[in-house]
Amino acid sequence: MKRRMFAANWKMHLGPQGARDFFDTFLKHHRARDDREIWFFPPAISLTTVLHVIKDRRGLCAGAQNVHWEPKGAFTGEISVPMLVDAGGQGALVGHSERRHVFGETDEQAGKKARALLDAALVPVFCVGEKLEEREAGKTWSVVERQLDALDGLPAATLGRVVIAYEPVWAIGTGRNATPADAAGMHRSIRSWFAAHGVRRKNVAVLYGGSVNLANLAGLLAESEIDGVLVGGASLDPADWAKIAQTGV
Ligand code: PGA
Repeated sequence: MKRRMFAANWKMHLGPQGARDFFDTFLKHHRARDDREIWFFPPAISLTTVLHVIKDRRGLCAGAQNVHWEPKGAFTGEISVPMLVDAGGQGALVGHSERRHVFGETDEQAGKKARALLDAALVPVFCVGEKLEEREAGKTWSVVERQLDALDGLPAATLGRVVIAYEPVWAIGTGRNATPADAAGMHRSIRSWFAAHGVRRKNVAVLYGGSVNLANLAGLLAESEIDGVLVGGASLDPADWAKIAQTGV
């Protein structure tokens, strides 16, 4: 049985009270299924609230939107992997395009963050994707490959624990998305990168993200290359998110 991952990236939405209100509705609609994990990436200030609500509920997981690679120190505004472990978080987004393009995060930093999470046995959801001008210049794969190369040097067994989220930047929050066939093609290339690094293709988890919603989700999940989705805007409505997380076989 294929195990799917449905991940909600709340971005800078829903503080602790907003998160509690969200779950009041979400849990009324949610049905746990053995074939999938539903992940929440709330803002750091809401993470302990979310972890408390989902505690002991099968198939529900939560993590941070970002972490620093150092375990502690003078890094105002950052949270570390040991802090995330202390809170009970199970993973983190790494290298989301807003981190890369709004906050100037580099490939090297994304690589260090992924390594820090892997060292602590947490799940990095490592985001990759090209900008529109890069796509139009025919550089889609070279950009994604360069982003993946930040994971170079990790042993295959460790690399196999990384979840990749392919999110073309031009599709995020824009209402445009890649066709299922285009997305599947990129996922295939991403799997080839892993295969060249010693990880079997079927052991690589690759999510798609970028304006995913109830209307386009089934088409994406019909592609065997697409293991799940990373969803921003459509994950903020608790009833819709519960429906999204029930979609697909
Ligand atoms: P979106 O965001 O679903 O609102 O396009 C996806 C993401 O940025 O992870």
